[in-house]
Amino acid sequence: MFDILNLNPGSFGLDISDRTLKLVQIKEGKQGLNISALNQVSMPSGIIRRGEIKDIEKLSLYIKKIVSKTSKLTSRYVVASLPEEKSFLHAIQMPKMSDIDLKKAVRFEAENYIPFSLDKVYLDSEIITYPKPKGDSVEVLITAMLKKIVDPYIKAIKKAGLIPLAMETESNAAARALIKDGIAEEQVYLIDFGATSTSFSVYYGNCLRFASFIPVSSEDFTLAIAKAIGKDREEAEVLKKLHGLKNKGITGKRVAKAIGPCVDELAAEIKKHIEYYESRPKSNGLKERKEKINKLLFYGGGAELNYLSEALSKELKLEIEKANSIINLSKESKNIFSKRKHKPFAFTVAIGLALREFYD
Ligand SMILES: Nc1ncnc2c1ncn2[C@@H]1O[C@H](COP(=O)(O)OP(=O)(O)OP(=O)(O)O)[C@@H](O)[C@H]1O
Ligand SMILES: [Mg+2]
Repeated sequence: MFDILNLNPGSFGLDISDRTLKLVQIKEGKQGLNISALNQVSMPSGIIRRGEIKDIEKLSLYIKKIVSKTSKLTSRYVVASLPEEKSFLHAIQMPKMSDIDLKKAVRFEAENYIPFSLDKVYLDSEIITYPKPKGDSVEVLITAMLKKIVDPYIKAIKKAGLIPLAMETESNAAARALIKDGIAEEQVYLIDFGATSTSFSVYYGNCLRFASFIPVSSEDFTLAIAKAIGKDREEAEVLKKLHGLKNKGITGKRVAKAIGPCVDELAAEIKKHIEYYESRPKSNGLKERKEKINKLLFYGGGAELNYLSEALSKELKLEIEKANSIINLSKESKNIFSKRKHKPFAFTVAIGLALREFYD
């Protein structure tokens, strides 16, 4: 009743992709954490291209639109996503020292890992606390993003009348949604198969260890169908969602055939990334871990494609789990998705962003 007097307005998550905005707010209830507000709006092409904002003004109008269209939204504080493909993430090893000294030393050391001078980037660091560091060194995860990429996001959010509270990369946010209580006892691959971008990351212990992106996205599947069947993009999109890799009936067989080469390319790219990750010199906490990673969590709207995870699993000889985007939320959170036409997969990043206020 006295919402206006509420001194803890919380925050909400805003996943900003090239063509879509997604919003999630989470509140604590008797049964645990619940999604209290959820929405999605599409944007025309050209406002953001490959994670770079081209039109701050227009983006701010779409942010205003999603906020005004979302019922039950009770906060103006935003935790927003930043594009994976523009970020740098490294786990580095440092000698044990006080937190203040470590912060300074990390900045100095980071220069060796980031291909830009430090005054051009925002730098974030997180001490890896799980598994507990052994010996006299600690591992620190550093994330960097170019200021010229980040600043327009902040401007657009402010222009929309909101207050940016925090920004983080998509895979960082997604991991908060997907990893039960934030701890993974075994290393796990995470793949976000989105409309225009696909990210590949590795999570272990209490944080990400590696992040990269894959240049095959779900939109490529749509375009391949359009080209093979001679339909326009919108019709091809419908066929993609209807058939996927079912391979049944005349049209179903044509659709499966059309996207076959894209699936092969996606599998080859994932394989390449896995091989690269496996061959990298391992940091301390992972050195003794010789066992191969055999679990992959697959999410993002594109992961809904019929039989795609089965096909990838077969090709990669890996256990591919359809990720559970509401694993850290109450069971009731499922209901909000079943009541609407939205699917949890596509909201993974937005859920992770909204969860931030309960974790840090
Ligand atoms: N049932 C389905 N079958 C196949 N593809 C689907 C299905 N549902 C959604 N998609 C595809 O998922 C994609 C959208 O996924 P998502 O919402 O994760 O992307 P995005 O976050 O907007 O984009 P990005 O993260 O790449 O910038 C679209 O290409 C859409 O066609
Ligand atoms: Mg996305």
